[in-house]
Amino acid sequence: MEVSLFVNGEYVIREVEARLLLVHFLRDELGLTGTHWGCDTTNCGACVVLYDDEPVKSCTVLTAMAGGHDVRTVESLEVDGTLDPVQQGFMECHGLQCGFCTPGMLMSARALLDRSPDPTDHEIREAISGQICRCTGYASIVKSIRWAADTERGVL
Ligand code: FES
Ligand code: FES
Repeated sequence: MEVSLFVNGEYVIREVEARLLLVHFLRDELGLTGTHWGCDTTNCGACVVLYDDEPVKSCTVLTAMAGGHDVRTVESLEVDGTLDPVQQGFMECHGLQCGFCTPGMLMSARALLDRSPDPTDHEIREAISGQICRCTGYASIVKSIRWAADTERGVL
């Protein structure tokens, strides 16, 4: 079936199988491999993208359902060589080790700060609660997101 949607601000139109998941469409059709596919059980959250500005696990969305919607992936965060503050925060505060969970964490962080510029640590933990990190123990991820929030608000 034919589907048309916006991905990172660009209009995209493709023929897809009705069963194709959005995570596979992004990775295999569009080559946006920053979005990771980490499980078959909707548990890991490595596949989180922004879907009409809301963080969504892209393995739970059929591409056919995404017609007319706006999808934003981790590739959209860096612009002309300038990192998004959430990317910079993960770099400054060691928010990653292997990096597999990082794209999903970054997109959830971006969505959180867009709706809540000064979140509490509890709100940060809640925002990433649907995602699994097997390396960091989460403390450095929370610190990274706090760094990004403080930087965006100009209090660092
Ligand atoms: Fe694991 Fe989507 S790939 S939750
Ligand atoms: Fe390795 Fe999170 S940094 S899974």
